[in-house]
Amino acid sequence: MAISEKKVVVTKADTTCTVIHGDSRIELPSFSGLADLIVTSPPYADARKKHYDSVHPDKFAEWFLTFNEAFYNTLKPTGSLVINIKDKVVKGVKHRYVWRTIDALCQHGWYSIEDYIWHKTNPMPGRWPNRLRDGWEYCFHLTKSKRPYFNPEAVRRPIGDWVASRLNKLGQNDLKRHNSANASGFGRDISRWVGKQTVSPSNVLSLALVGKNKGHPAVYPTDLPLFFIKLLCPEDGLVIDPFAGSGTTGIAALSLGRRCVLIENSAEYCEKALQRLRNEGVAQKDELENGLKSVRSRSIGDHSNKVLQLFKI
Ligand SMILES: C[S@@+](CC[C@H](N)C(=O)[O-])C[C@H]1O[C@@H](n2cnc3c(N)ncnc32)[C@H](O)[C@@H]1O
Repeated sequence: MAISEKKVVVTKADTTCTVIHGDSRIELPSFSGLADLIVTSPPYADARKKHYDSVHPDKFAEWFLTFNEAFYNTLKPTGSLVINIKDKVVKGVKHRYVWRTIDALCQHGWYSIEDYIWHKTNPMPGRWPNRLRDGWEYCFHLTKSKRPYFNPEAVRRPIGDWVASRLNKLGQNDLKRHNSANASGFGRDISRWVGKQTVSPSNVLSLALVGKNKGHPAVYPTDLPLFFIKLLCPEDGLVIDPFAGSGTTGIAALSLGRRCVLIENSAEYCEKALQRLRNEGVAQKDELENGLKSVRSRSIGDHSNKVLQLFKI
């Protein structure tokens, strides 16, 4: 297994997650045309100044465009870029650096396919004179073509227990398409749900915020990249996170058997990512049950020691 001064490969079954310590603008050209999905959360404007470099919202679009060519060239023609980000309030007013950034990317050739919303089921507490608690963030889906790889079957959800009792009591209106009484144009045909086990989710993802015990100030929930990997990356595909932080994307990719590359410019966070990959990504419960734990932890332990040494942490 190749380990260079700044690169460590973590293996789970036949899948690999490569953690690279470096600037993604410099590292990504090695993966030109190879990625199916870039799913990431960049540093938000003027946030986490104590932890890593932050960019003023007025300068954010310009800064983000310095990554544009590397992102674009890394993706296959059918590939997708998913950016999780949120607006900033400046002097009581929403600064629209996020919209400006997405608009600037589209002016450079990206197609804006969808705006997903991550609805936080446990938003941070707070009181402001003119707004309520902040309960959601954007996940923008950008592509190089209008028909990217897209597998909605992979993200279907269980239909829910309520269906059984509802379908037991089908009335006349349920046996044909029933249009809304207020003439809104919406309608439904409940009888078509008989026998269905799953439903297609919407573009709103309800997921809880992650607690502060992952060694990084801005960890997103594993289910966020997991959803987009299932939806937008084929089973033999390659996922890249160019702002990898504590490695959440790698944990999601390994759990789904997708190859992954994580690029992070902080040695400290590379180490956190490696620790998390070892603890959450590789030594998973199913493997413990299969008796593979000792093999995995031994091999990852070796890499972990190596990275600590390489990064002099
Ligand atoms: C919002 S955090 C990502 C958190 C991650 N999603 C997680 O769950 O842990 C953004 C990360 O990008 C890293 N970063 C900033 N500029 C970078 C660059 N040019 N190349 C690689 N990483 C960079 C920061 O150090 C930070 O850890």
